[in-house]
Amino acid sequence: MNVMGIEEVDTLSPSLRKYADRNSIRIGTCASIEAFQNDPVYVQTLKREFNLITPENALKFGPLCPEQDVYNFEAADRLVDFAEANNMEVRGHALVWNLQLPAWLSRGNFSRSELIRILTDHIKVVVGRYAGRIKIWDVVNEAIDYDGTIKESIWSKTIGPDFIDIAFHAAHAADPAALLFYNDYGTEAKEMHADGVYKLLQNLLHRNVPVDGVGLQMHLHLDDLPAVQNLSRNFRRLSGLRLLVHITELDVRLSLNGLPNKEQLAAQAYIYGQVLKTYLAETTCKTIILWGFTDRYDWIPHFFPGDGASMIFDEEYKKKPGYEAVASQLTAYP
Ligand code: G3I
Repeated sequence: MNVMGIEEVDTLSPSLRKYADRNSIRIGTCASIEAFQNDPVYVQTLKREFNLITPENALKFGPLCPEQDVYNFEAADRLVDFAEANNMEVRGHALVWNLQLPAWLSRGNFSRSELIRILTDHIKVVVGRYAGRIKIWDVVNEAIDYDGTIKESIWSKTIGPDFIDIAFHAAHAADPAALLFYNDYGTEAKEMHADGVYKLLQNLLHRNVPVDGVGLQMHLHLDDLPAVQNLSRNFRRLSGLRLLVHITELDVRLSLNGLPNKEQLAAQAYIYGQVLKTYLAETTCKTIILWGFTDRYDWIPHFFPGDGASMIFDEEYKKKPGYEAVASQLTAYP
């Protein structure tokens, strides 16, 4: 304990961050501002184990801009300041999405030109504020539907599918040095959704839209093992577009009947390990972000009742087999 009564960061024992730093790998996690503000062990674990954070919600339209032209950057600033103070990178998430929009926007009756102005002004304000500090952005999140078509949203209905082009051009204008990503789920396998994402990226590149990479979220379940076995084909296909490929939201949820059993934890660890092994073998980018790291703040039970225990630490911050699986892939590489 230091004079502030806070545990010193354990700089001696091994950690994911140490393994990753040795091999120039980004190992990150989303960061919850609620946990960050209330749980010192969360903060200590964050800076010991990870070299990158993605604010889980603080940089989304709704939390940032609760009223039109009124921004609240307090939570995002705290997380970005923390990352910089601990020599961690920040991955910005997400400038344009159909969820977590403020009521004034989702209920507004805006014309196409008004909504384009709202979209481009928002991106200019947010990306401009963190220019040079947040060097990677999820510009557009989850714009493709399960069948590969453009998902219906306020953006696609009012502006049209070119809202995607407009968003990327606005982000590039606000910070030409930032790496700009399209981010989506369900792209693990070569299915309709994954095919739709691939075609979107091909078309954006064909129109010289400034997209640098694709984020594969990787929200997985034990039943997804077959998809994991198809991963290399999709990694290779996307890398073939000369795009950076990041794993952006990896978690492996379990169907629970009480605490997870040993078989479930072993299967979860296997999937964590397989995803990292395949990714590190098939791509040159080396950026892996978990969507949370302790079961104590697992987002899954709020959205998939009956599922949970998705993370690599348990609720008491004890390492689970999934932690060892991630560690062994980071040390095995190259
Ligand atoms: O902050 C408010 C709090 O004041 C209020 O009392 C509470 C009760 O309603 O809600 C709190 O906000 C919640 C927020 O998480 C912070 O906990 C929102 O209701 C809740 O909807 C929000 O959920 C987030 C979800 O995106 C929204 O769809 C999850 O934390 C977040 O992990 C999740 O992350 C998404 C990625 O951004 C995109 N990919 C999918 C991924 C999982 O859905």
